[in-house]
Amino acid sequence: METREVVLITGCSNGGIGHELARSFAVKNCLVVPTARSLTSMSDFQNDPRFFLQELDVLSEQSVTHVLSNVLQKFGRIDILVNNAGVQCVGPLAEVPLSSIQHTFDTNVFGPIRLIQSVVPHMASRKKGKIVNIGSCSALAPGPWSGAYSASKAAVHSFTDTLRLELRPFGIDVISVVPGAVTSNIGDTAIANYSQMPEWKLYKKFEEPIRARAHFSQGPKSTPAEEFAKRTVNAVLKEKPPAWFSIGHLSTVAAIMYHLPLFIRDFIVRKGMKC
Ligand SMILES: NC(=O)c1ccc[n+]([C@@H]2O[C@H](COP(=O)([O-])OP(=O)(O)OC[C@H]3O[C@@H](n4cnc5c(N)ncnc54)[C@H](OP(=O)(O)O)[C@@H]3O)[C@@H](O)[C@H]2O)c1
Repeated sequence: METREVVLITGCSNGGIGHELARSFAVKNCLVVPTARSLTSMSDFQNDPRFFLQELDVLSEQSVTHVLSNVLQKFGRIDILVNNAGVQCVGPLAEVPLSSIQHTFDTNVFGPIRLIQSVVPHMASRKKGKIVNIGSCSALAPGPWSGAYSASKAAVHSFTDTLRLELRPFGIDVISVVPGAVTSNIGDTAIANYSQMPEWKLYKKFEEPIRARAHFSQGPKSTPAEEFAKRTVNAVLKEKPPAWFSIGHLSTVAAIMYHLPLFIRDFIVRKGMKC
């Protein structure tokens, strides 16, 4: 009987964390289903027999149902779901168009919940499974200029805590993976989306720090996605995986900031984010 774990990962475009997670799971002898909105964004995996590539948009019920049925038909099971797909949203909360905030929550919050609701009946029927939700350190010390994103990731942390308890009776482990600053495409995508924002009214004079927020996680000290992925996969594949796994540049700083009195945290963040 085939015993290799079947792992489905969302948001696996080349250059991002999902892509490296797919590679690391494959190195650990898993049967990997890397998914992305477009197959061309995973073209380097195309002829590699370790991967069963699928197009999946987390915003589409139809797309999720279609992919899950393809995977169950091919492998007969899904052992691990990694909710990795996500988008940054940069801008002052008082002026960011509501549609951009909704899109952020649709992708980062309702997308993972859509996948989870689709896969849980299958995992529960086998009394086995792991669900990995990628959160963010930015939700531990939410600063200015990325309020929609931080709030969406705080929601991810919160529903992950709930699911860990609610799914335990069904043999399903639920894991929060909380990256610090990790090298990926997130900054470039954020700045591309930012260029579609309207001109700020009250916040014109903050244009420079707001724009800089898009690339905040993409500095020279950011953790390479490959290193992040290797360590994350090692943690997830443990027989008893951790409930919370946080690594990457600034992840320790974020954990400390989380516990600081608010007046100290605000003082530090205001200096850093120039507001
Ligand atoms: N990099 C960091 O420093 C950092 C820190 C904390 C948390 N994170 C989280 O880590 C995860 C991966 O991000 P990343 O840094 O690797 O950024 P990335 O390189 O921009 O990757 C994001 C992935 O999500 C995909 N995606 C976006 N909308 C989607 C949708 N509707 N359906 C399916 N896929 C969709 C993107 O696809 P396209 O290529 O088609 O756009 C891309 O594959 C995200 O949840 C992010 O919030 C990253």
